[in-house]
Parts: sequence; structure tokens; C-alpha cells
Amino acid sequence: MTAQIKAWRGAIVHSIADPAEVGLEASYEYFPDGLLVVSGSHIQAVGHAADLLPTLPAGTDITHCPDALIMPGFIDTHIHYPQTGMIASYGEQLLDWLNQYTFPAEREFADPAHAAEVSERFLNELLRNGTTTALVFGTVHPSSVEAFFSAAEARNLRMICGKVLMDRNAPDYLLDNADSGYTESRALIERWHGKGRLHYAVTPRFAPTSTPEQLARAGQLLQEYDGLYMHTHLSENPKEIDWVKALFPESKNYLDAYDQFNLLTERSVFAHGVHLCDDECKRLAETGSAIAFCPTSNLFLGSGLFNLPQAERHGVNVGLGTDVGAGTSFSILHSLNEAYKVMQLQGAKLHPFKSLYLATLGGARALRLEHHIGSFAPGHDADFVVLDFNATPLLSYRMQHTKTLEEQLFVLMTLGDDRTVKSTIAAGQVVHQRDAATATENV
Ligand code: GUN
Ligand code: ZN
Repeated sequence: MTAQIKAWRGAIVHSIADPAEVGLEASYEYFPDGLLVVSGSHIQAVGHAADLLPTLPAGTDITHCPDALIMPGFIDTHIHYPQTGMIASYGEQLLDWLNQYTFPAEREFADPAHAAEVSERFLNELLRNGTTTALVFGTVHPSSVEAFFSAAEARNLRMICGKVLMDRNAPDYLLDNADSGYTESRALIERWHGKGRLHYAVTPRFAPTSTPEQLARAGQLLQEYDGLYMHTHLSENPKEIDWVKALFPESKNYLDAYDQFNLLTERSVFAHGVHLCDDECKRLAETGSAIAFCPTSNLFLGSGLFNLPQAERHGVNVGLGTDVGAGTSFSILHSLNEAYKVMQLQGAKLHPFKSLYLATLGGARALRLEHHIGSFAPGHDADFVVLDFNATPLLSYRMQHTKTLEEQLFVLMTLGDDRTVKSTIAAGQVVHQRDAATATENV
């Protein structure tokens, strides 16, 4: 059976390269009256409507998107699904915030029914915000990952998740051990890694909560299976960094505590990296590892300002993360708004084309998924969003005063949030329709 052809017509933009490498103008393609042609679950073509319309089979279903911008789905390179219910918890920086709010919330995921319910709610939130792929923390409970992957599989989403490894310095009720963490991870890898659009991430929470034995077993897993991710936290908060120095006296720096156990790979993603030295950046670049820049979280927990120009100078891959529940929004648009301010506070600018890159192709590259997602190349997954210029009265009014694409992008990124996402399409299917969803999603 041949796949069904569908098309979306409107203004279309996608990032095709990092502006830091090719300059701003060569970093994107824009079709003011464009056509995105989808065959089944994949992109067939993108271009000017005038060129592509004559190529469509008679009777093709075309969705018209006036006053809107069509772009690839957003990619969130660091988020915790079990923290959905404790977002916006008051008053603490990282280590106290973990003890006071996070660990008790994660305890609830021992109950598979709770994990299943939160997985659905979490995926609804991602999709209403236009995020079609995320690198996701579970909890220490294998059933938390089982629930998440089952929910993501049912919606045919490209998602990455893993069971937390944590065998010290946390409440007893959340601890595994080096052996059980390894065995449980293996069973999840066997069951889920490479199934449909799902991938597994070996997930030591952060260096302070894993013994050297556990980090060594994590490194062993990465050797034993192809294409696994490694997902953890790095250099987020000054007290955390001091703690790592005390726990790993042999390590040259924080990153080295992971490096000693062979945890730096092309599929390693380190959240934050707010306080990195040049040696650490150099090593991240050499190993092809990535940083997840999480601006709303870094501001909310008072962690510090991520130095994007330093990472760029060293050629480190960087994606954008919301880090919910330390992050305060599921919206990648809102995260770009905060990222811009983080740069302003360091006397630097975040250009809207760089922001577009970080939210889409840059995230795909950080996750080594650029051959599937992040841009509209033919054959890629048909994962994309339609952003509505008239989402709110203020946005609509402000958009009337824009003259260029870059200005439109900047306004969308500064004023945008979930309301801006008119629809989200994953694998060629509409998985969120803003105006249809409000009535049913709020129950
Ligand atoms: N470091 C270790 N665990 C966490 C977590 O859950 N959130 C954040 N932001 N940092 C961490
Ligand atoms: Zn995190």
C-alpha cells in the first residue's frame, strides 16, 4: 500500500546549519508561501507552494495555515517527567530543593498507576508546547520508565528515557545498588531500546548519588549496547561542585568524575554545565558530548548563567532543555525568551536564528538524531508545529509591526508559549490541536 500524501501550506522556516559555523544567512531556509509535503509519517518535500503544488496527486488533503509559521517540532534535551507535579516549588537552591521537594515526589513513582497517569499528563504538556522529542529522566523505579515508554509508544513519538541510577546520598526509599541498577537497566534496554521511535539513556542522576562502582557499571552498559545515550547532570551549583570535589578527590574536575568511568561519548548529554573550565569544555568537544542549556531552571534555582559563547568557542554541542520541574515551563519558546536574558546578563546576544537552531536542529545534533528530526529534509520524520501569529491579542498586535522573518521569530520567542502552538504533528499525525484540546485536556 502506498503511503497517504498530505500537505501543509503557509510560511515555513527551518534551520539547516549552526549560525556559529556558517553565519546567519546560510543557517536557515524560508518559504514565505511554502508547502510541506508529507508521505505517511515522513517528510516528502519542502519548498515554494508554486513549485510543489503541481506535483501533488489530485485530491491531496492540504491544511492551510495563514498568519502562522510552520517549523520543525521542538527538541527538549533535558527534562524530568516525574517532576511534573512539583514544578514551581518555592525557596531553595539545588541540594535543598532535591531533598525537600524532588525526592519525596519521585517516591510516588513506585506506584505504576501513578507513573502511567503522570506520563500521559506529561506528554500532553510536551505536545501542547510543540515539543515532539525529549530526553527524559525517569525515577529509580524501572516501572516509571516502563510507563513512560508505553505512553510514548502509543502516540508514536520519538522519545528517549532511562531509569535513574542512584546508590548513595539519597533517601533509602530511592536507592538501588550497583548490581540492581545494572540489571534493571539491561532489562529495560532489551525491551525498549530501538523499539519504534524509542531510545534508551543510561541515567546516573549525578556524580554525588552514584558510587564509583555504579558509574563503572554505567560505563559497562554503554560498551555492551550500540546507540545508547548517557544522560546526567554536570556543574550546576557551587555547593554541588564542592561536594563532587570531596567525593571524587582523584578527579581533575567535575567532568573528570564521569570521564574516569568512560561516560563521555557521542551520545552523552550533560544538563547545565554552568560553571565549566576550559579543560572541561575541551574534553566535552573531543568526545562529542553535549550540554543541555536549561535557562529557566538555572535562573529558578539560582544556579548561574550558562556561558554559550565559551561552549561555542570550544565546539561543544549544545541543545536546549527545560529541566522541568526545576525549570518553570514546558515551553521551548519560553525557554528561548529566558536564554536571551541569560545572554544579555553576560553582555552577549542570542540571535533569533541561533535560537531557532538551538530549539530544533541543534537539539537534534546534540542527540545525534539530525538524520531523523530537527529539519525538513526529505525522509525525515514528519514532526512539526504550526505557530499562530494571532495566539493572543498582544502577539497579534505586535506581529502587525514586524517587517522581517528574524523580527517575527524574535517576537514569537519572546512572547510565545503554549498558546502560540496551534497544532503539533508527530509522524504525520496531528497529536495536538490547540482549539480542540482545551475542553478535553483540562478534565
Ligand atoms: N541534579 C541532580 N538531580 C537533579 C534534578 O533532579 N534536577 C536538577 N536541576 N539538577 C539535579
Ligand atoms: Zn535535571
